[in-house]
Amino acid sequence: MVYGFWVSRCLQIMAELGIADIIGDVPKTAEELAEASGTHAPSLRRMLRLLSGLGVLVKDESNQRWGLTEMGEMLREDNPGSVYGSLRAHGLLLSWQAWGDLANSLKTGQPSLEKFMGTSFFDYMRTHADVAAIFNNSMAAYQTLNAPAVVNAYDFSRTRSICDVGGGTGMLLAHILQANPGVRGAVFEMPHVAIETRQRLAEQSLAERCEVLEGDFFVRIPEGYDTYILSQILHDWDDERSLRILQNIRASMRPDSRLLIVETVLPGDNVNHFGNLYDMAMLVVVGGRERTHAEYAELLEKAGMKLANVHPTTMPPSVVEAVVA
Ligand SMILES: C[S@@+](CC[C@H](N)C(=O)[O-])C[C@H]1O[C@@H](n2cnc3c(N)ncnc32)[C@H](O)[C@@H]1O
Repeated sequence: MVYGFWVSRCLQIMAELGIADIIGDVPKTAEELAEASGTHAPSLRRMLRLLSGLGVLVKDESNQRWGLTEMGEMLREDNPGSVYGSLRAHGLLLSWQAWGDLANSLKTGQPSLEKFMGTSFFDYMRTHADVAAIFNNSMAAYQTLNAPAVVNAYDFSRTRSICDVGGGTGMLLAHILQANPGVRGAVFEMPHVAIETRQRLAEQSLAERCEVLEGDFFVRIPEGYDTYILSQILHDWDDERSLRILQNIRASMRPDSRLLIVETVLPGDNVNHFGNLYDMAMLVVVGGRERTHAEYAELLEKAGMKLANVHPTTMPPSVVEAVVA
């Protein structure tokens, strides 16, 4: 635990330099890798040795070439569902600055990242296309693994229309629509994200079945869908702002509509759970929080809804199903 962040940093820098993609399917010498990545060969070689000990790389002693192991393949950008996107997003210097200032978040309850960005996380994304692209790509890559788990965990057979609120680049909804041909959908997003969402849905031949609607979920949410999705949205916000989003959804729901909240549900104290770690990230980065079953039930009740069911998935998030109270 003490030295874990050194390992994370080496993996993040390996992703930033594109080492796994430079190696690709053809093992390379340290000198070839250094030249292609613009690094100092003797120093890079030391990191390659560390990563080979960790099982990410393997060196062929006969020809001095470094190749990727099965785990190393998970660092390639061109491998859908790899951790490349997460490594890039969490590897941003801004992210390291924010975690370095964790004590500030613990003392104030405020996200320390705001100090370094000079504004809130989502505001910064609006005006910094380079960082927004890294963030949106990491969310889309994550959905390569997460969306099939959601599709398997929830029965969409009675669903006809879905609005994915804050649906990002649309990759979760795309998986649901591909698996359920009778369903039509809409992604509701901020205008600067919506541009890419339209492109990605068109690439998947879903432009006809899936609209992209622009707006602000704190103001108004499109009406009349039988299913609403909030995937990794409520964990970005404190209770007050989460309640506002839920109330806006409640105002747009029909009496028979359902809300599916795709979030990690914390098991409580004395349990080693990935969600507890992510909860700290939410504190530092956006000022949000992960929640327990009881906390979701309470928030939903305040918004005029009732927690009906929790469907676990094979990934950390569950599908928390809510209906009109
Ligand atoms: C953590 S991402 C989740 C994306 C997607 N739902 C997923 O699970 O992959 C949060 C999303 O909320 C969107 N968002 C943030 N503030 C918003 C607002 N006020 N109105 C609409 N969307 C917003 C962001 O653009 C971003 O795509």
